[in-house]
Amino acid sequence: MTYQIANPPSVATDLRSDVLGHVLSSRGSEARIGLIQDEFDARERATIGKFVGITSAEALLIGMISEVSAVELNSAGMGEYRAIAKVDLVGQVVKEPNRLPQFRRGVRSYPAIGDAVTIISREDLRLIYSPSGLNAIDLGELHQDRTIRATVDVEAMLTKHFAVLGSTGVGKSSGLAVILSELIRVRPDLRVLLLDVHNEYGRSFAREANIIGSHNLKLPFWILNFEEFTDIIYAGKPAVAEELEILVELIPAAKGMYQGYKSGSERPALSRRPARNGGFTADTPAPYMMQDLVGLIDERMGKLENRTTRMVHHRLMQRIDGIRNDPRYAFMFENANVGGDTLAAVLNQLFNLDSKERGLTILKLASLPGEVTDAIVCVTTRLAFEFGIWSDGGIPILMVCEEAHRFASGDHSVGFAPARRALARVAKEGRKYGVYLGLVTQRPAELDPTIISQCSTLFFMRMANYEDQSILRSAVSDAAQNLLTFVPSLGTSEVVGIGEGMPLPARFSFRRLPRDMLPVSDPGSDAARDTRTMSRSELVRHAVERWRRATTNTSRLAPDDVGESERPPEAATNAIERGLRSLVGDREGVATRDADSYRTSSR
Ligand SMILES: Nc1ncnc2c1ncn2[C@@H]1O[C@H](COP(=O)(O)OP(=O)(O)OP(=O)(O)O)[C@@H](O)[C@H]1O
Ligand SMILES: [Mg+2]
Repeated sequence: MTYQIANPPSVATDLRSDVLGHVLSSRGSEARIGLIQDEFDARERATIGKFVGITSAEALLIGMISEVSAVELNSAGMGEYRAIAKVDLVGQVVKEPNRLPQFRRGVRSYPAIGDAVTIISREDLRLIYSPSGLNAIDLGELHQDRTIRATVDVEAMLTKHFAVLGSTGVGKSSGLAVILSELIRVRPDLRVLLLDVHNEYGRSFAREANIIGSHNLKLPFWILNFEEFTDIIYAGKPAVAEELEILVELIPAAKGMYQGYKSGSERPALSRRPARNGGFTADTPAPYMMQDLVGLIDERMGKLENRTTRMVHHRLMQRIDGIRNDPRYAFMFENANVGGDTLAAVLNQLFNLDSKERGLTILKLASLPGEVTDAIVCVTTRLAFEFGIWSDGGIPILMVCEEAHRFASGDHSVGFAPARRALARVAKEGRKYGVYLGLVTQRPAELDPTIISQCSTLFFMRMANYEDQSILRSAVSDAAQNLLTFVPSLGTSEVVGIGEGMPLPARFSFRRLPRDMLPVSDPGSDAARDTRTMSRSELVRHAVERWRRATTNTSRLAPDDVGESERPPEAATNAIERGLRSLVGDREGVATRDADSYRTSSR
């Protein structure tokens, strides 16, 4: 590769000691720089990702080195240059008389051949990364210069959604904890609902957040729309078409009956009349009583001659009864027969709307039955969006979803379609109604591409998988592509931030969290007991006890939370006990793995 220029600028004429080289060619927002062969060590610093300044006639142009290649010394036309660097121009620092210097994204003037190139000074770097918006949050320190803080513009990051992406164990949850703790500090008005899939964040925000789990969640079944309701009663499996037909017809009728009691025209016990649906549909979030629905199905069944159709009705009744008597679903069906219009109370619990403080609410999903997680993610996202619409965006809400690829999979045959639709709707239109999205995923390639493309601030953490990396490439602009080459080699808690919220794409490290703030999965109320001090048999007993308690929902009896969502059959507990015994031999290794991985990678 040769770069022919008529009169290469002479190194000897440029006596400034910080000059790294000169512009040899320029095309669009790209420039090629000849790096000077010299004694001082500026050349050491001309590495990929570094920012350089090009002193042009009007401004200091800022570029990022995206490629460096050696050239044969003394090759034709190369003058005294030892190497070529390719630089992407990203912005400029304007220094006008009587005004403070300002950094602007994009370039308005272009470099001329021979312009001097320097490694950017600390002051200029600080200027570039100094917060521009009203609310900026400090997330950590810049890789290029650890004395400079990496700040993010809150308005830009929030209103156009953000995502934290990276393989497992690279520090996504810890990074999210840093982002959220800063967000609630500078925006106390913002209501944040964190869908905590692994019950990790309670510990990090024990003092600041409202924590909702199986012990206190109240989400009456009638708030669910038809798809969500059926997802729950069929536990995510395909529904039975004949049964669905019955429900579509009778749920509105049950709502009509409840409306009748409210208007006081009939007492509940006397209401067995042909039900009118009062204009309700199966989706209207209007209260009704489960006993009315079951009563209506029963009544219909009584009138039927055909045995097969009677059986369909009977099975449906059994299905509903099974679920409403399951103690794990008490948060949905407890008081179900009492009815009562508590939509405002539900919204208030989820988003703490009444208060101007305690903006963060953590919904501990792992303490609820695994089969309802999809429906809960769906209903809460939908409620946030609907509330945004009907309140004209009066109270801004941020929905934060961990493991987003599980709920909004790009493969439409996977997961619960209404949950994906609810998240996509917020991603596409939420901005207009003050409803924002923050997503965390370890498999960006599995996340619905339309959702990820709406997230304009992206935090990339280490990612080794090729498919995931190619998704990133399609999501970012050309200028930022080069930063992505670092992604496979980033250390734990290191991140490349790109997009609306960042003044410029930046590689930085999330602020170090103190040990007691680190998100750690908290499977039960007595997780605080240090298992490392227990004997092996004590540990096994302790684990089995917690496991069993999680399956019997004792949380309703005691106000503490129980974590695991899986429900191993009672008969399997002996096998569980045996399995655990064989596992504990490894436990010291497990207990210290996280801390070690951090230490190793931050070295
Ligand atoms: N900002 C940080 N401050 C202190 N320690 C950190 C930080 N980020 C990561 N770590 C260390 O790395 C470990 C893993 O981090 P974290 O749980 O946030 O990763 P993750 O990407 O969310 O993992 P997973 O995919 O399993 O959810 C932490 O337990 C902690 O030891
Ligand atoms: Mg995590």
